[in-house]
Amino acid sequence: MKKLFAVFPFALISFVMSCSTSPTEKPNPPAAQAIQLVEARDVHSFANPAQVRVKHVDLNLDVLFDRKVLKGSATLTIERRQADANELKLDTRDLKIFKAEISAKGDNFAATKFALGEADKILGAPLTVELPAQATKVRIEYETSPTASGVQWLQPAQTAGKQQPYVFTQSQAIHARSWIPLQDSPGVRVTYSATIRTPAGIRAVMSAEEEDGAPKLGEFQFNMPQAIPPYLIALAAGDIMFKPLGKRTGVYTEPAMMEKAAKELEDTEKMVEATEKLYGPYRWGRYDILVLPPSFPYGGMENPRLTFATPTILAGDKSLVSLIAHELAHSWSGNLVTNATWRDFWLNEGFTTYLERRIVEAVYGRDTEEMQAVLGRQTLEALLAKFDTRDQILHVNLDGRDPDDGSTEVPYEKGALLLRYLEETVGRDKFDQFLKSYFDAFAFQSITTPDFRAYLQKNLLDTNPQAAAKVSAELLDEWMEKPGLPASAPKPQSNAFGKVEAQAKSWLSGKAAAGLETKQWTTQEWLHFLNSLPAHLNEAQMKDLDQAFGMTKTGNAEIAHVWLLISIRSNYAPAFPRLEEYLTTIGRQKLIRPLYEELAKTPAGKQRAKAIFAKARAGYHPIAQASVGKIVL
Ligand code: BES
Ligand code: ZN
Repeated sequence: MKKLFAVFPFALISFVMSCSTSPTEKPNPPAAQAIQLVEARDVHSFANPAQVRVKHVDLNLDVLFDRKVLKGSATLTIERRQADANELKLDTRDLKIFKAEISAKGDNFAATKFALGEADKILGAPLTVELPAQATKVRIEYETSPTASGVQWLQPAQTAGKQQPYVFTQSQAIHARSWIPLQDSPGVRVTYSATIRTPAGIRAVMSAEEEDGAPKLGEFQFNMPQAIPPYLIALAAGDIMFKPLGKRTGVYTEPAMMEKAAKELEDTEKMVEATEKLYGPYRWGRYDILVLPPSFPYGGMENPRLTFATPTILAGDKSLVSLIAHELAHSWSGNLVTNATWRDFWLNEGFTTYLERRIVEAVYGRDTEEMQAVLGRQTLEALLAKFDTRDQILHVNLDGRDPDDGSTEVPYEKGALLLRYLEETVGRDKFDQFLKSYFDAFAFQSITTPDFRAYLQKNLLDTNPQAAAKVSAELLDEWMEKPGLPASAPKPQSNAFGKVEAQAKSWLSGKAAAGLETKQWTTQEWLHFLNSLPAHLNEAQMKDLDQAFGMTKTGNAEIAHVWLLISIRSNYAPAFPRLEEYLTTIGRQKLIRPLYEELAKTPAGKQRAKAIFAKARAGYHPIAQASVGKIVL
C-alpha cells in the first residue's frame, strides 16, 4: 500500500478553451471563460503518465472459451512527457506476462526487460518496462486469468439460447487492468484498435466501430478513433445478432432475446435526438445497445458507441428504459467529459442522473420524470440515514479504498440534486446553455471536482450575480465536501404518487387489494406503493396482495425485488422459491445485494442466504461474487 501514496510531480497543466462546434437553434452563448486544468494524482493507479503516457492501445486477442482466457498482445503507443524517462509503468491484475518488447518505428520489435511488482489487494500489480531512448511502442504478450475481475465467462446454460458460451468484460472502475496491461487511470485517455479471434459461430462486439473491410471468418476488427479513458474499453462475444432501431441506433443481443429487446428499446433514436437538442451533437457516430444475459452485474454500462445493458430492463411497458437514457447521457457526461480520478465519480454519475431525467422528461413527459426524481430523493435520504459520514460526501476521499466502494447511489442522487438546485436557481435556459458550454469546453478531457467548480464560478455564477448571491462558496462546500444535504436542496413532487399513497392508505385501513385502483400503474407507481407500506406485513396481508396482483410471479425484476424484500422481512414463505430462483438467475448487484443483506439480518435467513449463494455463486460475475461473499460469508 505504501506505493499508493508515493508523490509524483504533477505539474502538467493544460489549457481548456470553449469551442462552439455545433449548429443550434438557440443563439450562440457568450464565449466560455477558459480555466486551467491541473493534472490530478490518481491514487488508484501505479502508472507514471507524467513521465511516459500511453496514447494508443492496439489489442490482438484470442478468445479461448475452453480455458476461460483472453490471450495475445497489447501494443502501446507511448509519448514521453519527460525526455529522460526510462521506464513505463503499467497497471495489471492477475495477468500472466510472457514478454515485453519495444520498437522505434513500429515494425521491428526487440525484447526489453520488465518486472511485475508485488500485487496490492485493491490495485493489482505494477508492471515496469524498461524503455530505451528510441522506443515509441511497447508490445506486451500476455494472457488473462480465468478469474479476472473484469471478465465474466458464461456457460451455455447461463445464456438465453443455451447452446453457445458467452463472455463479456466490465472495466469500470479499475478492472481494465485485469484484461489489458495499460495505464488504468481515467485521466489517461487513449484511442484503441483491436483484432479479436473467436471460435466458429461466436460474434465479437466492442465499444468501438467495427471495421468491415473483408472480414476473416472468426476474426473481428475494431477501431475507436476518439480518446477515451481505459474503463470504457469493452468486449463481449457470444451468439449475438444485430437489429437496427433507427438510422444510427440499433440493438445487439442473442436471437432469443431480440424481439422483446427491439420492441422495448424502440425509442432509442428519439432519446439521442432529444439529448442532442439539449446538450449538443452526439459525437460518437453510432449509438447501439447490447442486451446481455441476466448475470451482467450492473444495470447498464456506458461503453462508448455500445451501451451494455441488463435484460432486467425489459419490463414490457418501457417503464425501465430510463436506464438507456442514463447510459446514453454518459456520451456527454462521463465519456466526453470524464472524472479525472474516482473521487470525482459524481461528475460522471451525478451529471448523468440529472441528464437522464431531462431526457426522460423530453421523451416521456414531466409526470414520468418527477416520479423518478421523487424515488431518487427517497433512495438518497435512506442512504444518508445509514451511511458513515465519509460516504455521504460527493468529493469523496477514496485513499486506500477500492473505488467500487465509492459507487453507491449518493454520487448519483446527491449530484443530480445539486444540478437541479443550480437549474432552479439560475433558470432552465441559462443552466442548459451553461451545461452545453461545459461539455464543449472539456470535450475529450478528464477533469476534477475543483476544475468543475472553477468553471462553474467563472461561467455561471460570476455572470449571474443575482443567482450567485444564493450560491455562496459555503453552500457549494456543503454540497460537494460535506455529508448530508443542504436545507435548500430541491424536493421533487409527484401528483401520481399522491394517488398511489391514497391507495396504500385505504388498503392499510382494511380495503381488499382487489378493490384498489391500480390500473395503468407503471413500475414506478408499483415501487412507490410497496415502499409506502410498513416494513413488516402479516401473512393475510401478504396473501391479499399476492392474490390480487400476482406479486410473487411478476416478471418485472424491479417490482419483484421490492416484493421479495418485503417477503423476507415478513417471513412470507410462499415467495421463497421465487427468491431462490431470482437470486440464482439475476446477477445485477443492485437487485441481489439488498436481498442478501436482508436475509443476513436473522440467523435463519443467513443460513438460507448461504445455501442460495452456494448455488448461485458460480453464475455471478467475479465482482458480484466478492461483494455478495462479504455479506453472507
Ligand atoms: N457507469 C455506471 C456503472 C458502474 C459504476 C460500473 C461504477 C462500475 C462502477 C452506469 O452508468 C450506471 O450508473 N448504471 C446503473 C444504472 C443507472 C440507471 C443508475 C446501474 O447499473 O444500476
Ligand atoms: Zn451511470
